[in-house]
Amino acid sequence: MAKVKTAFFCQNCGTQYAKWQGQCNACKEWNTIVEELVQKPEKSDWKSPNTKSKTVSVPLKINEIDTAKEPRLDTFDGELNRVLGGGIVPGSLTLLGGEPGIGKSTLLLQISLKLPYKTIYVSGEESPKQIKMRAERVNPNSSNCYILTETKTQNIFKQIEVLEPDIVIIDSIQTLHSDYIESSSGSISQIKECTTELIKFAKETATPVLLIGHITKDGNIAGPKILEHMVDTVLQFEGDRNHVFRILRAHKNRFGSTNELGIYEMQGSGLREVTNPSEILVSKKDEELSGNAIAATLEGMRPLMIEVQALVSTAVYGTPQRSATGFNAKRLNMLLAVLEKRAGFRLGAKDVFLNITGGITVDDPAIDLAVVAAILSSNEDVPLQKDFCFAAEVGLSGEIRPVQRVEQRILEAEKLGFDTIFVSKYNKISLKNTAIKVQLISKIEDLVDLIV
Ligand code: TYD
Ligand code: MG
Repeated sequence: MAKVKTAFFCQNCGTQYAKWQGQCNACKEWNTIVEELVQKPEKSDWKSPNTKSKTVSVPLKINEIDTAKEPRLDTFDGELNRVLGGGIVPGSLTLLGGEPGIGKSTLLLQISLKLPYKTIYVSGEESPKQIKMRAERVNPNSSNCYILTETKTQNIFKQIEVLEPDIVIIDSIQTLHSDYIESSSGSISQIKECTTELIKFAKETATPVLLIGHITKDGNIAGPKILEHMVDTVLQFEGDRNHVFRILRAHKNRFGSTNELGIYEMQGSGLREVTNPSEILVSKKDEELSGNAIAATLEGMRPLMIEVQALVSTAVYGTPQRSATGFNAKRLNMLLAVLEKRAGFRLGAKDVFLNITGGITVDDPAIDLAVVAAILSSNEDVPLQKDFCFAAEVGLSGEIRPVQRVEQRILEAEKLGFDTIFVSKYNKISLKNTAIKVQLISKIEDLVDLIV
C-alpha cells in the first residue's frame, strides 16, 4: 500500500511543517497547526496546448515595456466596474469574500447573466435547479451563461477546454478539490493547490476568473492568508443582512485603487445598483426630529450623505450605556468626553445610543461633527434644522478639524438641496457663489451656540 503522505499546515498563514508544534514560527499564532494529507503533484493540471515551457524570462528596461493600456472587459455593472477600476483585467483572479447570505452568489450569477460573453458559472454549493431558480428571479433570458456543478478542478478544466468561456466564475474556492492533494476540500493545502491551478489557467489563457470565498467568524477570508496574496484583487461584500444595502469594497487591487465603493440594494429580483446613494440614505422628513443630523461623508471618491441618529436619555442603571451601530464605539466615547469637558454637558449620567441609518458602517472622520450635533440635539431635545449638514472632524481639545476634499462635499450637499453646511474654519475653500451657506466653525462651543 502506498504510504500516505501528510504534512502540518498553519491554518492562519499556510506555512508547512514536518511535525506538529504549538506555535507557528512564521505568524506566531498558537494552536493553528493542523495535519493534512498531501500528495505532491507530479504534473500541474492546467496544460495549455501552446505553452512554451522552456521560455525563460529576461530582464527588460522599464521604459521599453509595452504600456498599451490593459484592455478591460466591461462587466455591464456600473458599481462592479467602478470598484475594479474600470472592468475586469483579462487573466486576473478576483476573490469575492463576504458573510453567508450576504449575496455573493447572487451578485456573480447576476453578472454572468448580464454579460454578452460566454461565461461559465461553476458551483460546488448548489444544484443546477437551485441556480436556475435564482436566475429566474434575476434575469432568466441569458443564452451565454453555462452552469456547471463540479468540484474537481481536473474535471472543471476539461469542461473549460471544450467550452472556451470568456469568463470563469467559481462558487466557491472552499468547495474545490484537486486530485493531487489528498486532504479534504476547504483545507489549506487544497485551497492553495486549486488556486495555483486556477492562476496558471488564467494567466495562460488570459481568461479572468472570479472566485467566491467564505469568511471566518472574525471576518477574514477562510483559508490561508496566502490566498489573498495569490489573487490580483480581493473584494469584500458587506452590509447588514437585515438591511437592504450592500457595499462592495476592494481590499486589494493590483489594477486600480482600493478607495472605490459600490453600493447595491437587495431586492426581490436580485441586486440593484444604487447610483444616487445620498438620496436614498437621507430620509427627507417633513417634521423636524431631535437627535438627527446629516453628515457629508466621502466613501472613496464618492460623496455620500448619511443620516446619524442619537438618543440621549437618563441612565437607569449605575453605569450609563453607550452603544453605537455603524460607528466606532471608542470614537463615540471620545466625542462624549470632549463634549463633557469642552461644552460642559453632563453626559456621565446619560445613556447614549448612536445609529447610522441604512446599516452602513462609516470610517470617514468627517462624520464626527454630525455625531456631536446629533447628540447635542437629542440631549437638549431641540431638533436641528432639516437643511443643515456637517462635515468636519472633532479633535481632543474640542477643535473642529479640516477634512479632505471638502469642496466635493459642499457641492454634493448643495446638489441635494441643503441650506447650510458646517465645516472647519481651517479648510481652504475656493468655491465662490454657492447657493449653500458654508458655515465655518473652529471649536465645539461655536457649534453649541449655532445649533441649540
Ligand atoms: P446568496 O447570494 O445565496 O448569498 P451568499 O452566496 O453570499 O451566501 O444570498 C442571498 C440572500 O439574498 C438570500 O437570503 C435571499 C436574498 N435574495 C433576495 O432578497 N433577492 C433575490 O433576488 C435573491 C436571488 C436573493
Ligand atoms: Mg453562495
